Amino acid sequence: MARPSWDDEMRQAAMKTLDSLHWVKGPQGKAFGSEFATYSDAVQGTPCQSGSVALWAALRLLEIGPGDEVLVPSLTYIATATCVSLAGATPVFVDVESDYWCMDLAALEAARTPNTKAIIAVHLFGQMCDDDLVKWCDDHGIAYIEDAAQAHGAVARNGKKAGGIGDVACFSFFPSKNLAVGGEGGMMTTRRTDLAARMDALVNHGRDARLESHEVGSNLRMSEVSAAIGRVQLKRLDRWLVRRREIAATYHAAFEGLNGILLPRVRPDTKHAWHQYCLLVEDPDALRAGLDQANIDSRVYYATPIHRQQVYADHPQFAAELPITDSIAHRLVAIPVHHQLSEAEVQHIVQTVCGILTA
Ligand SMILES: Cc1ncc(COP(=O)(O)O)c(C=O)c1O
Repeated sequence: MARPSWDDEMRQAAMKTLDSLHWVKGPQGKAFGSEFATYSDAVQGTPCQSGSVALWAALRLLEIGPGDEVLVPSLTYIATATCVSLAGATPVFVDVESDYWCMDLAALEAARTPNTKAIIAVHLFGQMCDDDLVKWCDDHGIAYIEDAAQAHGAVARNGKKAGGIGDVACFSFFPSKNLAVGGEGGMMTTRRTDLAARMDALVNHGRDARLESHEVGSNLRMSEVSAAIGRVQLKRLDRWLVRRREIAATYHAAFEGLNGILLPRVRPDTKHAWHQYCLLVEDPDALRAGLDQANIDSRVYYATPIHRQQVYADHPQFAAELPITDSIAHRLVAIPVHHQLSEAEVQHIVQTVCGILTA
């Protein structure tokens, strides 16, 4: 499903940083934060240790805690919801759109209460959420956190990139993501100048230049060597996205019209980042068994929606129905779409999927 890139320039950047003995709190992290912010149409970027801690820190930055409700999708990676629990607030699960699989505006409105303080909008699989979510949040004084862990380089209808839309956005650099840093890693970005200084401080125990703490943070800092690798990867990202989009277009052309599947749709006037290419199928087991036989990796995202996972056994929505999420979650089969696939591999995947679905 993923094959991270590693080349001489990345190796040299890593070695140079190690040789400098400046392993933490140095120039690489600063430069990576600022270059990533520029790339993402944000005013500031703060590198950190993972997408999961970025989400937790974003909630702290927005002063969300006990008594507050945060609206989240259930069709997503577990961290989107558990960060809310870790912050002491309550995740409220809302359904997704039937066509684009991102958080649904009508479902958000239905779930809104006077305690709703934020939404965490996941740009799922690299698909941008509806731009109208921004206005809805503004109209109701609700903070907008982007979970952009899967969306490096995706572009919204308003022309802004993932990371430049919400109050705070959170990225992951886990090795399977569109951009990686040679280990674990994450980034927070913001378009709000009033949050920028606190964002940097929060990953460093809320300390100022005189080492005095002003709020409760933690050591969430990214290592210099990871930042150095990330900076080189960032230079390659647009080229890699072109390749992902090319592969997705090949799949679209080949699979259109096949019976028993729905293809992933791209929201009009946006650019998808194709972190995952998921087919919505009637019989996921049959498709996966066939792919397996042909030596092709696949995954189901996300077989058990979060509100139904044991960690939320005591949550009031544990047995509640989210009709669209519940009906599609176990039927979304992701096939490889990463930028390192060769043309022969893409054709092998195309022929195998077509063979299984026309059998
Ligand atoms: C949607 C989403 N949110 C959050 C995360 C958490 O990122 P990390 O694994 O870097 O903690 C991920 C990573 O898989 C993700 O896909």
